[in-house]
Amino acid sequence: MTAAPEPLDSKWKQSFRRRLLAWYAKHKRDLPWRRSTNPYRVWVSEVMLQQTQVETVKPYFQRFMKAFPTVKRLAAADEQEVLRLWEGLGYYRRARGLHAAAQEIVTEHGGRFPGDVATLQKLPGIGRYTAGAIVSIAFDTRAPILEANTIRLFARLIGYRDDPTRSAGQKLLWQTAEDVLPRKDIANFNQALMELGSLVCKPTGPLCEKCPVASLCVACQTNAQEAIPLSTKKTKFTDVSEAAVVVRKNGHVLVRQCGEGERWAGLWDFPRFPLENEGPLFVREELITKVKQQTGVTIKPGALLKTLKHGVTRFRITLDCYDAQFESGRVRSGGAQPMRWSRPDELAELPLSTTGRKLAKLIADR
Ligand code: ADE
Repeated sequence: MTAAPEPLDSKWKQSFRRRLLAWYAKHKRDLPWRRSTNPYRVWVSEVMLQQTQVETVKPYFQRFMKAFPTVKRLAAADEQEVLRLWEGLGYYRRARGLHAAAQEIVTEHGGRFPGDVATLQKLPGIGRYTAGAIVSIAFDTRAPILEANTIRLFARLIGYRDDPTRSAGQKLLWQTAEDVLPRKDIANFNQALMELGSLVCKPTGPLCEKCPVASLCVACQTNAQEAIPLSTKKTKFTDVSEAAVVVRKNGHVLVRQCGEGERWAGLWDFPRFPLENEGPLFVREELITKVKQQTGVTIKPGALLKTLKHGVTRFRITLDCYDAQFESGRVRSGGAQPMRWSRPDELAELPLSTTGRKLAKLIADR
């Protein structure tokens, strides 16, 4: 019996590339961003796919491309319009980064997409992975990629048992991503790696019986698929209570734009803050004090409209949404945080936080 080839020796690499590409030709999904190799489209799709599932991204990508078909159109757009199209995708810093980078491409690069990793990495929001994905997929340049799917795939292939997110692991896995690259057909090859990671080499219950490279995989051959990659410490969740207040005045409601450093910077929301008290009387006092602090107006709190539960990073938030009437005072306008009285139907045009949107729908329906 001949011994199995060692991962990354030349026979192993030859076999790996051939099998992977043959598998991809048969199983690749028809995804909207795969229909062209325009670097702008590749870039937008890759930024959306960071931290968001393929199925969720699809409609967002289509709408975004319709609104901003070119990097110049994106650069010329208003940030509010960009955020409105991003609404619901989360991690809004990605949208602000895209917009800022588009403007830099127009002002610094004459609107032409840079074609090399080093120049791309100087743009806001573009790291080593995104730069590698853009040049390899759009220009077929020989550059490695490493993201969630390929970290898992490579760690299993080479049997890496330590923490792949630490610097030694990252170094080894980036080196692996570079070593496995063929000389040509990089665009297909890199996408095939991600596709195999996503469809077959799943985080739990990987489908090794369907994997074209199972016989080349250390984890599969040693039955260590579930132990690799090493799972890092589980996130500890923290429960928090917050309140949002619908302040009404003559058919209008008060909304404010979240400032730099806030969770939803650039998006709009109802006055919202952490709630420290319990019991109706204490909560009532707290609503009055905090709305005044945040907006400058004095309110008369009304009914609890709804309780929304949602998660943001490590926080599990219980958000009590209250109705309120404007009593007196002027909104603090002109500061770093714009505020305005909007008719409920005007909220459709503003980018709102996800809970802000739910609350806006709730009051519009009533
Ligand atoms: N995840 C990140 N980028 C991807 C891509 N281009 N195809 C499939 N999954 C991905």
